[in-house]
Amino acid sequence: MVCRHYQELDAFVQEAKKKTGEGKVADYIPALAESGQDSLSVTIYHAENTCLTAGDADRTFTLQSISKVLSLALVLMDYGKEKVFSCVGQEPTGDPFNSMIKLETVNPGKPLNPMINAGALVVTSLIKGHSPKDRLNYLLGFIRRLANNQEITYCRHVAESEFSSSMINRAMCYYMKQYGIFKGDVEEVMDLYTKQCAIKMSSLDLAKIGCVFALDGKHPETGEQVIKKDVARICKTFMVTCGMYNASGEFAIKVGIPAKSGVSGGIMGISPYNFGIGIFGPALDEKGNSIAGVKLLEIMSEKYRLSYFLKHFLS
Ligand code: DON
Repeated sequence: MVCRHYQELDAFVQEAKKKTGEGKVADYIPALAESGQDSLSVTIYHAENTCLTAGDADRTFTLQSISKVLSLALVLMDYGKEKVFSCVGQEPTGDPFNSMIKLETVNPGKPLNPMINAGALVVTSLIKGHSPKDRLNYLLGFIRRLANNQEITYCRHVAESEFSSSMINRAMCYYMKQYGIFKGDVEEVMDLYTKQCAIKMSSLDLAKIGCVFALDGKHPETGEQVIKKDVARICKTFMVTCGMYNASGEFAIKVGIPAKSGVSGGIMGISPYNFGIGIFGPALDEKGNSIAGVKLLEIMSEKYRLSYFLKHFLS
């Protein structure tokens, strides 16, 4: 499919781009610091096979935390809600994505939700497979089906950069292991988690995956029910309550759609009008969300009346 450049969207991108100077590219994973500060692009993928784009939409980027929704969908389908939610909670934290404070103070050892790092690490530890290679291929296979793109793979450079610098995530795994919540081998799970976060794609791939969620798990191109309907519903709900971390409340008020961000500057959004949105803008705000990406979604939400909380979607 060819994506059409859309002038109105381009104007929104130019407007939102003014924000990039106020943000900062993530550098706690050293390889991420190599992204350009002022880039911003967006792709909208609609179920009827229309695709609109603005900005430098050919660029690829790593998913980082956006991958957390995808691994969650996979393990929920494999194990069911009861098992998964016995290891990870369903409540927002109000804390930064890599905070460990509530691991100690609330339900010791059990992370509050699967969108924060601690929760996502437990989810990744549940991914099925006989060997680390099997588990990675299983996850990649699922993500390739979601994007309907067999070329998708992970970026070795970014994965290695995070693997060799991610001591807080390791510390959380060991903490949770002490309480019997985390049962995997820490180094093996860290290897899979960092590769999962380093899975690389374009904003078109991301918008297409967003569209799968918008269609309750059914793929707009292949017609395959890639995610069970109930699992897609749970994932979208987590995206509303925790998808933008400790900015999720403000984002729900200003934008009002399920969305998931990553520290690479990616955002996946799900519109109530059966389309998915893929954004890439590496400059981040202080909470780790793409600063211009969030601004762009605010503009789009207002112009196109995207909020799920508007009366016509509720009645
Ligand atoms: O575990 C980490 O810190 C990163 N691989 C992912 C964090 C992330 O993307 C938070 N997002 N805004």
